[in-house]
Amino acid sequence: MRDGSPFPRVALEARAVSHSYPGRQAFKALNDVSIALREGETLAIVGESGSGKSTLSRILLGLASPSEGQVLCFGKDIGSLSRRERAAHVQPVFQDPYSSLNPRHTLAEIVAAPLLARGEQRACALRRATGLLEEVGLGPAYAQRRPAALSGGQRQRAAIARALIADPEILVCDEPTSALDVSVQAQILNLLQEQRRERKLSVLLITHNIGVVAHMADRVAVMRHGEIVETGGVRDVLLKPRQDYTRLLISSVPDLRGGPIKPLATAP
Ligand SMILES: Nc1ncnc2c1ncn2[C@@H]1O[C@H](COP(=O)(O)OP(=O)(O)O)[C@@H](O)[C@H]1O
Ligand SMILES: [Mg+2]
Repeated sequence: MRDGSPFPRVALEARAVSHSYPGRQAFKALNDVSIALREGETLAIVGESGSGKSTLSRILLGLASPSEGQVLCFGKDIGSLSRRERAAHVQPVFQDPYSSLNPRHTLAEIVAAPLLARGEQRACALRRATGLLEEVGLGPAYAQRRPAALSGGQRQRAAIARALIADPEILVCDEPTSALDVSVQAQILNLLQEQRRERKLSVLLITHNIGVVAHMADRVAVMRHGEIVETGGVRDVLLKPRQDYTRLLISSVPDLRGGPIKPLATAP
């Protein structure tokens, strides 16, 4: 709520979005999906594999156009924004930190890329990138390293720094911890929480793991077969699910069965 209004604006919105992939016209990966991410909140999208989450995330990022419907970023059709305008508002964090970072560049270059692309002076951009790397837990020694020298968790830290460097209002995170060892997943989620609070980010968090939802989200939308089948506040949906499908997702996470919603363990 950067404007101080008690009624948060909608940051990113899908309006009646449907999508079919070419050659599979009978099959809709998304069918009439409407969701709104409000400013400052974390909205989780949860659903089993193949339910359409990544398709929706690419469309919300403006990386793909929907077959039908519209995506609005602060009220503007995302299709009408230039790539640079879009990138200034919305940034992605993808699942796979192994393929999302250019292997030939140093971490400082990778993180500085969005600044260099908009014409900032190289030395200054690299300096800011190095500072942000430090903020996400990768000290000065990391700035000159390349992705191959890093663990999965460290790569995801670098990917988060790259997403944050140009000061976007919105992050769209598609399974940001699914490719990581269980032991580092909580650290990356904690980093996202920290950055979200400090920068007052609006976060769309896509996951198939309802445990992640419980720890991170304010609201949740449940997807199945390309449709939103249930949506609401996290506690309402997790404690009083209305759909059998949601109940099933919840029952697959041992920590949540019947128990209270626990806060995340803090990272060492
Ligand atoms: N590029 C593509 N071409 C054809 N079908 C696709 C493509 N990407 C995804 N799909 C199909 O669309 C459906 C939704 O996929 P996806 O959005 O990746 O779901 P999720 O991220 O929830 O696992 C799946 O049936 C998948 O096979
Ligand atoms: Mg996916």
